Amino acid sequence: MAFTPWYKDMAVYHIWPRSFCDGNGDGIGDLWGVLSKLDYIKSLGVDAIWFSPLYPSPNADWGYDISDYMDIHPDFGNLEVFRQVLDEAHRRGLRVFMDLVVNHSSDEHPWFVESRKSKDNPYHDYYYWRPGRIGPGGKKLPPNNWTSVFEGDAWEYDSQLDEYYLHLFAKKQPDLNMDNPKVREEVKRILRFWLDMGVDGFREDVITFISKAPGLPNAYPRLPVANGLRYYSNRPQAHDYLKEFKRDVLSRYDCFVVGESPMTDAATALRYVTEGPEQVLDEMIAFSHMEADCFMTDFIRRPFNLVKMKKAFSSWQHKLAGKGWNALYIENHDHARVISRYGSEKYRVESGKMLAAMYMLQKGTPFIYQGQEIGMVNNPLPELEMYKDVQTFNTARIASKIMPKKKVLELIQATSRENARTPMQWDDSENAGFTTGRPWFFVNGNYHDINVKAQEDDPNSLLNFYRRLLSFRKNNAAILRGEYREYIPADKNFYVYERRHFEKRVLVICSFTAEQLRFNAPEDIDLSQWELALTNYDYSFTIGNGFTSRPYELRVYTMN
Ligand code: GLC
Ligand code: CA
Repeated sequence: MAFTPWYKDMAVYHIWPRSFCDGNGDGIGDLWGVLSKLDYIKSLGVDAIWFSPLYPSPNADWGYDISDYMDIHPDFGNLEVFRQVLDEAHRRGLRVFMDLVVNHSSDEHPWFVESRKSKDNPYHDYYYWRPGRIGPGGKKLPPNNWTSVFEGDAWEYDSQLDEYYLHLFAKKQPDLNMDNPKVREEVKRILRFWLDMGVDGFREDVITFISKAPGLPNAYPRLPVANGLRYYSNRPQAHDYLKEFKRDVLSRYDCFVVGESPMTDAATALRYVTEGPEQVLDEMIAFSHMEADCFMTDFIRRPFNLVKMKKAFSSWQHKLAGKGWNALYIENHDHARVISRYGSEKYRVESGKMLAAMYMLQKGTPFIYQGQEIGMVNNPLPELEMYKDVQTFNTARIASKIMPKKKVLELIQATSRENARTPMQWDDSENAGFTTGRPWFFVNGNYHDINVKAQEDDPNSLLNFYRRLLSFRKNNAAILRGEYREYIPADKNFYVYERRHFEKRVLVICSFTAEQLRFNAPEDIDLSQWELALTNYDYSFTIGNGFTSRPYELRVYTMN
C-alpha cells in the first residue's frame, strides 16, 4: 500500500495569539500563555498548531504586516520562549506551523524603509514602485486603476520619490516584488530559518497573489474591491515561484505547506495541489464554502443558502478526489463565528455539534479555530468606534456610502471578522480567565455561560463532543481515506453525505433548520442495518427508513 503522508491524518488547532491566553498580565495573549495551554490543546486530540503571525509588527493588520520575519513580537515573547513552546509541543507530539506572509511586508520593514530612500537604493526593486500617470488636465493619477482589498486605491504616493507603491491590502502592507530573485532568496532564508529551528511547516498567506502581470495593466470592467484581481491572482509565475521554494528549501525538510487562496476555485487549486512533480502545496485554504450568506465579500449579505454551501464543499471534495488533499475549516480569524452565521445561537450547542461533524467528517485535514470547540459566538459591539480592524473599517467606509449609520453598524456587527478575535473564554472568572490585566479587546459578555472550564466536566458539552469527533475521525478508515458521495444536493434543509472505504461506510446527516422535518434515508440505505455512532440528541430512534428531525439534528451512522 502506498505511503500516506502524516498531514493526511492530522487535525490542526489554529491560534490567533493576541486573544488566546495572556501569560504575563499585560492584557495581550502571548507564548507564555500558550505554554500553559499545551496540555489543553493536546487533550482535544489534535496533532498540530498553526500560529497566526507571531513576528514583530506595527499591527496595522494585527500581525499580517511584518517588520521582521526572523523574530518574535515582544508582545508575544521572544525567540527563547518560542523555542520552548516548540520543544514542549513536540514533546507532546504536536507539530507547529508558522504563518508565512510574503505577498507583502510592513511599510516599517527595513527593506521598505530602504526602498523608499531613493530610486537607486538596492532595495528599491524589492517592491512595486512606479511613476504615476498624467490624467486629463495634467492631474496626477496612480500607475493603474487597481483597488486594494482593504483601503481604496491599490497605490500610495510618495512625494519624495515622486513614485507610487503598490499595496493590494492596507497602505501599511506594501507588496513585495517576487519577480526580483533577491526577494525570492529572502523568502528562502526565512523558510530555512524556521525549519532549521524545528518548525514543521507553514500556512502561506494569500500566496496565489504573489505574481503580478507584466506592465500592471488597467482592469476592466471595474470591480468595487480588488479591481485588478485577474492580473495578480493565480498567474503562472506564482506556481513557478512556489516550485522554486519547494525545490530549494521545502523538499529538503519533512514539512507541511498549506496555501491560503481567496477567490480560487477547486479546478484552479489543482494546479498547486495535484500530487506529482508539479505539486507545490499540500493543501489549499478555500473560501467558497464561507460565502453561503454573502456575495464575494462580507458586506453584500444574503440569507444563508445551504445549497450554495453544499455545492462549494462538494465541488472541492469531487474535484480533488484521487488527486489532491483538502484543508477543511469553518472558522478562522478572518470570518465571523460560524454558529452565528450558519447555525443558530438559540440552538448553540446542537448547531455547533452539527456544524463540527458536517465539515470534519469530509475528506481532508480539519482545522479548528480557537474558541470554536466551545461554541463561541459573535460579539456585536454597540459602537462602530469600538472596532479595531482595517478590513472592518473599510467595509464600514464603503457601506456608509450606500446606507444609514445604523444599518452600517448592524452590518459590521454581523459580519466583522473581529467577532472571532475576542479573547478566548477559559473560565467564569473576571475577563474569562484570559488575563489578570486589562484585556486588549472586549471579552464577550456571555463568558459566564460559555467557557472551557464549564464544559470540561460536562460529558454533553461541545468541547467533549469535539474530542469524541476527533477521535472518531482518527479511528475510522472511511473518514480518513474513503470516497465522498453526496445525497439530495438540491435539498434546502439537509446536508447528507456518505464516506466509504471498501466495506466501511459512514453516513452523515445534518439538519440546518430548527424546523421539524421528515427525513427519509436514501433508497439504497436501510438505516436499521446501520449503527448510530454520533448524534447531538440524547435519544434517537427511526420510524420507517428515516425520522423526524429535531432542531439542527446531527446523526452519524456507520456500517462495517
Ligand atoms: C489573509 C489573512 C488576513 C490578512 C490578509 C492580508 O487573508 O488571513 O488576516 O488580513 O491576508 O495579509
Ligand atoms: Ca501578555
